[in-house]
Amino acid sequence: MSAKLLILLEKVYRENYLNKEELEYILDNITYERAGPLFAYATQTRMKIYQDRVFLRSLVEISNCCKNNCLYCGIRKDNPYPERYRLLPDQILDCCLSAYQQGYRTFVLQGGEDNFFTTEMLAAIIREIKRNFPDMAVTLSLGERSREDYQEFFRAGADRYLLRHETISPELYRRYHPGMEQEKRIQALRDLKEIGYQVGAGFIVGLPGQDNKVLAEELLFLKEFKPAMVGIGPLIPHPETPLAGIKTGSVEKTLILLALIRLLLPEVLLPITTAVNTLDKMGWEKGLKAGANVIMPVITPASHRSKYEIYKNKGSVDGSKLTEIKDRIERAGFRVDMGRGDNPLWSKEI
Ligand code: 5AD
Repeated sequence: MSAKLLILLEKVYRENYLNKEELEYILDNITYERAGPLFAYATQTRMKIYQDRVFLRSLVEISNCCKNNCLYCGIRKDNPYPERYRLLPDQILDCCLSAYQQGYRTFVLQGGEDNFFTTEMLAAIIREIKRNFPDMAVTLSLGERSREDYQEFFRAGADRYLLRHETISPELYRRYHPGMEQEKRIQALRDLKEIGYQVGAGFIVGLPGQDNKVLAEELLFLKEFKPAMVGIGPLIPHPETPLAGIKTGSVEKTLILLALIRLLLPEVLLPITTAVNTLDKMGWEKGLKAGANVIMPVITPASHRSKYEIYKNKGSVDGSKLTEIKDRIERAGFRVDMGRGDNPLWSKEI
């Protein structure tokens, strides 16, 4: 490894900041095989804040209906193949009960942008969860809705909101998200933060056209925005989308980016996402060693799980196989923490 690379890695470890040129230099010059020092710094940083704890989040996919047409996504509106489904409020509450009984203390409701779920329906579901399980953190991942909706869900008791920005490049955003506006998405992230949510942002790794310059910009955007959570994952082209047949995003690049995100935002809650786990059967182990500290097992009822196909062969972990999940995390040298696992900076002024 070159002296310059080592100096930059030490700098980002010490200062939690690098400028765009420096980040781009790292991305241009580092290889996964030689990224040992990067992963060591990321691990030290993670240990300082979270020790060897790994948080588990139960995740239920409440609807695969979506009004958007993101070019990469298997549940895009124009894909006629997926059998569309929606869970009923009672089914969602049953999932939450079973997650609670298994020990989960975070419940993530994820879904396509589906206006079938009105503000009041969602608020009622959130209120019901909080009434039954006041110590369960509720995370929403339901895409762009109005600020009033976000406000209403927060009042109902929601704690966190995941809304990946997908890409910070205006050009790429336009190319991959027909009919959507990047400014609206970034504004939604700001609104969520102002309202008081712990907010998750993040991007897809390996979108055609995304070079290291764009990736450095992605990292700097995260550094500036300071989300409580960051979700990134490699692109997995879905055969029923316009991106069918193109190159898959790199797991190794994703791991390098995870480590850099840990160094730029030491307190961030950083999951190893399903896309990493889909492409690499050692994805968890590698992700944990790169600084990630969250795993999100899926507890969507088995009858619907395969329909939530944002990409093929989705390697989501079955959230009911907790013993296996725990074993695997422990074998990798880490410890499962079933608590709420809030970001320690949350509610402080940052
Ligand atoms: N490959 C990788 N990630 C994808 N997402 C959607 N489709 C794909 C795909 N084909 C990501 C988006 C979205 C998240 C839930 O999944 O970033 O925000």
